[in-house]
Amino acid sequence: MLNKESKWVRAYTNIAFIKYWGKKDETFILPQNNSLSLTLDAFYTETKVTFDSELKADVLWLDHVEQDEKALKKAQVILDIVRQKAGLEDCAKIESINHVPTAAGLASSASGLAALAGAASLAAGLDLSKTELSRLARRGSGSASRSIYGGFAEWQQGTSDADSFAVPIDDADWDIGMIFIIVEDAQKEISSTEGMRRVVETSPYYEGWLASTATDLAAIKTAIAEQDLAQVGEISERSALKMHALNLSAHPPFNYWTPETIKAMQKVEDLRAQGYPVYLTMDAGPNVKLICKASQMEELKNILLQDYHADQLVLAKPGPGLQVLEDEQE
Ligand code: DP6
Repeated sequence: MLNKESKWVRAYTNIAFIKYWGKKDETFILPQNNSLSLTLDAFYTETKVTFDSELKADVLWLDHVEQDEKALKKAQVILDIVRQKAGLEDCAKIESINHVPTAAGLASSASGLAALAGAASLAAGLDLSKTELSRLARRGSGSASRSIYGGFAEWQQGTSDADSFAVPIDDADWDIGMIFIIVEDAQKEISSTEGMRRVVETSPYYEGWLASTATDLAAIKTAIAEQDLAQVGEISERSALKMHALNLSAHPPFNYWTPETIKAMQKVEDLRAQGYPVYLTMDAGPNVKLICKASQMEELKNILLQDYHADQLVLAKPGPGLQVLEDEQE
């Protein structure tokens, strides 16, 4: 056991290139397929946990605002596992700050739950390996399992709680980046959890998704090893569009797109027609993310500024894994 240390822990968000879209076990958050993501440097969460015998209940402060029970629930899954592992009964105070660019409105469960896994285990005096941290973060939110690592990480679905965790794939120290086009910052109406549940239960295409995702995953790993941006981009775009096609094929159907989403998708095609290697990905919301060369991001931004305000465009490069911060924040 380590000393119990209440330190700030930082985790960066990740965006999936091969999407996680469906669980086989909702309690343990075991996915239906392996997924693969890139951790990015533009969005992160910093979190500190303090276990305190004086507290009567767990409390969560997000961006200096105390959160309600609903927001606390996911966090408590992680706190309870940590308390059990450490033999602790104290309640905890969680302080968390989301660092997202102005107007983006992109609170991220991946960075949030990964930072919490790191901060809670540190505060309880547990000395967890990255694999154990990934498993712990996964219990809060599946995608958080991948934010333990920088660069490209693969979440291996596994067969049980013990073997479902992320592994590092490539440090992404090559010419790849992402441009976020923020078309809207409203909260999504159908959460990822609900959306994927409906798809698994009702989409007639789900088997096809699983079979083709295994093929995509093998292909993208080869493309990453070869630093082949065009291949990485094409495969990612395909994975995202298939995920969104599942939503349209669910019963009742749903989708995350707005007219502005379609316009941004069209923009990606236009850029490609102009010869830029640019590919899109989208998650459980209307915003569009462009996979591109990091070295071309400024040039692409200048073109996109003809259609978007500067604060709608966020440029991101590959980011690092979980970090313990030595300095006291704020
Ligand atoms: C579309 O990790 O938010 O971003 O495990 O239910 O908390 P829960 O879901 P979450 O889902 C992320 C879905 C996605 C694709 C991905 O990140 O792989």
